[in-house]
Amino acid sequence: MEPYRSWVPWMSGLGDGGRLLYSVVRMTRPQTIVEIGSARGFSTCALALACAENGSGTVFAIDPHLTNDWTDVGTQGKTFDFLKARLAEYQLESQCSPIRETSAVAGAAWSRPIDLLFIDGDHTKAGVTGDFESFAPWVREDGLIIVHDTGWEREGPLERHAGESWYRADMAVPAYMASLQEQGYQGATLMPEPGLTILHSRPNGFDFLRRRPALDDDGDRKSGSIRP
Ligand SMILES: C[S@@+](CC[C@H](N)C(=O)[O-])C[C@H]1O[C@@H](n2cnc3c(N)ncnc32)[C@H](O)[C@@H]1O
Repeated sequence: MEPYRSWVPWMSGLGDGGRLLYSVVRMTRPQTIVEIGSARGFSTCALALACAENGSGTVFAIDPHLTNDWTDVGTQGKTFDFLKARLAEYQLESQCSPIRETSAVAGAAWSRPIDLLFIDGDHTKAGVTGDFESFAPWVREDGLIIVHDTGWEREGPLERHAGESWYRADMAVPAYMASLQEQGYQGATLMPEPGLTILHSRPNGFDFLRRRPALDDDGDRKSGSIRP
């Protein structure tokens, strides 16, 4: 349907991940969403569209929009203009606040709780580690973290793609996800490549008993009492 039916040259590797981002926002109704890595804005618009349809929520879209070898192939470095034009065309400007900074700069100034964090920025070890460590502590206990490009090595070592135009020897997202897994972070990864992982915001997941009625010592439910 209009205004979304025209084919748009997003030049994005997100693919059907855009539908997943949209769906998670529709289901969980986050108020504060932080996106690291907007590029031309496919993920940004998917998140903002869901906020618009929820009737609330803001996407803080962090990206310096500087030309880089990895993502700007064919975009002439004009990702910011493209993103702004899409937000205007789809009337999503009130759902999105672009922050034209690196995540390190934006992270140093960040000071509010986050309901949904989406990481798709600098995929090097220093980059993804810095993004997680700067922003994950701000994610609410019952919030979610979604990371893109997590499954590059699921089918075998990344080096098998050496020589392909998009190959990057410094891609470190899968290894970083393995380290989070070792720390106890739980999540679900959607494949095929390049993988999109939804994580609990804390190691060892949610406390599933937190909202259940409290039990007496002998195991009976206390009438009407709910644990805080
Ligand atoms: C894979 S693209 C993002 C794709 C986008 N999410 C989509 O749906 O098409 C990665 C983006 O991260 C941005 N980026 C690179 N380093 C960054 C940093 N330090 N902080 C924030 N964004 C960064 C790049 O400018 C690029 O636009």
